[in-house]
Amino acid sequence: MTTKKILCIGAGYVGGPTMAVIADRCPQYQITVVDLNEKRIAAWNSDELPIYEPGLEEVVARCRNRNLFYSTDIPKGIREADIIFVSVNTPTKTFGCGAGRAADLQYLEKTARAIVEYADEGKIVVEKSTLPVRTAQAMSRILHSNPKGLKFQIISNPEFLAEGTAINDLENPDRVLIGGMETPEGQRAIEEVVAIYANWVPRERIITTNLWSSELTKLVSNALLAQRVSSVNSISALCEKTEANINEVTAAAGRDSRIGAKFLKASIGFGGSCFKKDILNLVYLCGYYGLPEVAEYWEQVVRMNDYQARRFVGNMLAAMFNTVADKKIAILGFAFKANTGDTRESPAIAVCCQLLEEHARLRIHDPKALGNARLDLEDAEGDISYCEDPYDAVKGAHAIALLTEWDSFRKLDFRRIYDLMEKPAFLFDGRNLLDHRKLYEIGFNVYPIGQKALTHF
Ligand SMILES: NC(=O)c1ccc[n+]([C@@H]2O[C@H](COP(=O)([O-])OP(=O)(O)OC[C@H]3O[C@@H](n4cnc5c(N)ncnc54)[C@H](O)[C@@H]3O)[C@@H](O)[C@H]2O)c1
Repeated sequence: MTTKKILCIGAGYVGGPTMAVIADRCPQYQITVVDLNEKRIAAWNSDELPIYEPGLEEVVARCRNRNLFYSTDIPKGIREADIIFVSVNTPTKTFGCGAGRAADLQYLEKTARAIVEYADEGKIVVEKSTLPVRTAQAMSRILHSNPKGLKFQIISNPEFLAEGTAINDLENPDRVLIGGMETPEGQRAIEEVVAIYANWVPRERIITTNLWSSELTKLVSNALLAQRVSSVNSISALCEKTEANINEVTAAAGRDSRIGAKFLKASIGFGGSCFKKDILNLVYLCGYYGLPEVAEYWEQVVRMNDYQARRFVGNMLAAMFNTVADKKIAILGFAFKANTGDTRESPAIAVCCQLLEEHARLRIHDPKALGNARLDLEDAEGDISYCEDPYDAVKGAHAIALLTEWDSFRKLDFRRIYDLMEKPAFLFDGRNLLDHRKLYEIGFNVYPIGQKALTHF
């Protein structure tokens, strides 16, 4: 089979950047990205891309209308493609059986049914979305229920990119994982997908496995990463009680090569569309397979994350004389992490909602996420303003809550900020981003995570 035409169904945070990099690195393939969302496709075809990701604009500019196309014509895309990547969203179910834990696979199933309807020859279908282990089995049943007798090969190729560094992660991945059936046809399909990545990824970084290992590895990878964050955050609470310093503890512990230094930063907690939903999915699967102890073990990672955001607001209240009612709080950063405008499951949402419940007045600034912040807090009641300029946000504020680790926050003029604020001025650094000693010397009362507060009282 000559595989020259690739289709990606789903033009989101994964489908968009992934296909842009494949198009860039594989000029011999023609790539079309389709989506039901017309606005999103129009944005991919415009100068204002629908998502912010460092380096993405340049890659798209190089490939668009050369070998990279964005379209809403899903039937045509399916008919013409040799390989179809499925990159639709798989959120947590909000209704019915498994609500709050299981993955909602309705978008995936609709995609499979569209493939059955429009395909007039067999194809390789690649699961790019994150899915519960054994989804490929259901996918295969749907695809093979076609009356045309077409044969499909299903491949699992989960995506490990992190938002904010997506282009670099795609261009220099630690590994690419490709799982397929252990049949000769399955192995041939694996090789077709390996051949795409082999255009720029060293062969030893392309791992091939059976389908189920590949599906499960994605959930396990996110669970292990989130577990590190929750582990460190749990210890940050203990540090605050004992005058141990979380930065010193993690720096020293991380020097052990068995532990490693990465992903050991204390914060208000993890966010993003994936960690929580993927762990809950794992929890659901463990319950489904009759492993309640395993389910409970992993669920605690999510509980600890919720606790950390609540604890942060609790610390704010305790420091500010047990009330924030009617006080202006400047929120610096709303995105779930730096270098993205994505706010899905951002801990900033929980922090802001809790502060609003306490009747605080919020002045929110974020370099890229104000539009999404507005949508997230649309139904929240209270006094909220959105400020393009960080200095507007802090004017007359009693406190600053820094919630996203944007590098630009380090460069703010904190002497000017101090002068603009009510006194005593409080600063709660939810990312341990700033120079706390310097801030204290300016006059702030500084509350980092997992470290002794620096106060003038
Ligand atoms: N965001 C991340 O950092 C990340 C990283 C790795 C893996 N993933 C996984 O990748 C998948 C996609 O995530 P995302 O963040 O790109 O989601 P997203 O919501 O940004 O994009 C999904 C897109 O699929 C489209 N879609 C849904 N059903 C469709 C259909 N039937 N036909 C055509 N288009 C359809 C939606 O309109 C949407 O634009 C999820 O399973 C997620 O867990 C995400």
